[in-house]
Amino acid sequence: MIWWHRSEWVKMRYISLFSGIGGLEGSKNSPDAVCEIDPWCQKVLSRKFSKAELYPDVRTATPPPVEVVAGGWPCQDISAAGLRKGLAGERSGLFFKMLELASDVGAHTIIAENVPNLLKIEGGRAFRLVVTALQQAGFTSVAWRTLNAREFALPQNRNRIFLVASKFRELAASLHRPVNQGAVISLTRASGFYWTAGLQGICYSEGYVPALKIGSSIGVPSPPALYYDDMVRKASADECLSVQGFPLDQFVDIPDKAKFAMAGNAVALPVGTFVMDGVFEAKNPDYITTDLFPTEGIPRDGVDFGSGTLAVSNKQSELSANLGSFIDRSINEPLSGRAARGLLSRLERSGKPCPKDLLKKLRDLSITPNLLEEASALRSSS
Ligand SMILES: C[S@@+](CC[C@H](N)C(=O)[O-])C[C@H]1O[C@@H](n2cnc3c(N)ncnc32)[C@H](O)[C@@H]1O
Repeated sequence: MIWWHRSEWVKMRYISLFSGIGGLEGSKNSPDAVCEIDPWCQKVLSRKFSKAELYPDVRTATPPPVEVVAGGWPCQDISAAGLRKGLAGERSGLFFKMLELASDVGAHTIIAENVPNLLKIEGGRAFRLVVTALQQAGFTSVAWRTLNAREFALPQNRNRIFLVASKFRELAASLHRPVNQGAVISLTRASGFYWTAGLQGICYSEGYVPALKIGSSIGVPSPPALYYDDMVRKASADECLSVQGFPLDQFVDIPDKAKFAMAGNAVALPVGTFVMDGVFEAKNPDYITTDLFPTEGIPRDGVDFGSGTLAVSNKQSELSANLGSFIDRSINEPLSGRAARGLLSRLERSGKPCPKDLLKKLRDLSITPNLLEEASALRSSS
């Protein structure tokens, strides 16, 4: 059994690394410094955290002393879709840079985030290396937890793993407090799926969208499709930011291509806030009790307080299915005939399932070229 007790809000100085658009940084305790290499993300960060120092590269940053370091380090070498070089990869190896910085600035706690595949790659060795490296650097109590954006009233099936590693056991244990958000279901029927997929299955999702992706390696956005009423179309960049929980006023004048990438990279804002608030805030019940179990492998929710891995049995929260409330009904551009034909052909070859009504709609779209397609065909032939 672990218990967690805090009685008051504690103002802690903290720096955010790999800040992106600040999905981990939604707590009312805002960062003293942020660090982000992408110029469009920097623009958003300077709007959100105008008083914070901005470092453009974690490899050269020289932040001030702080108590907490937070960061979702790059996942490309870890994600199932990536090259899976693991922590030896150039980008995902930046984890060690984060650890080095946290030690240099005298932090007592590191809050980190990555894709769930981190638990699996190299048969779990990469994750054990992360935990051991944290503990050897003095962050002896390590807790991790897999959280889904749908547990936080968002219609996106996005699982991410969060770690809190601390010199204080109760700060690490705060990660395992109950979520208690309550599921939201929309009355309007809407579903999401991947129109670019087909061979691996389209991840058809009633009431939510599959996890947003970063886009292709050459920067081509890859948003999911939405299906509602009689409409099938690609999700807009703003809708992608909305299903991640971001208010749109911080993204004025940012190009769609950058917004798609930001949304695909980010931590869903209420999920990041929950994780950070556990360390900073005391709005939770005074005592939290959580059962711990010995385990062979690496559990999706667990702790290592210095004497080996234990699994944590967090109660599974109810999952929201409120996509209908996130749809911008002023958008009227259906999926192109070409895209529908491509998807239909991939579905046919793979034999993967697709609901009948959606299949019919895709067939209709595939034989009805839309006006935009016709116009662009005319333009290129003239
Ligand atoms: C997984 S994303 C983190 C997203 C962030 N947590 C959010 O909610 O938006 C990793 C971020 O690290 C940034 N990045 C990659 N290399 C970097 C470096 N050397 N220095 C600073 N930022 C870097 C990327 O541009 C990207 O925005």
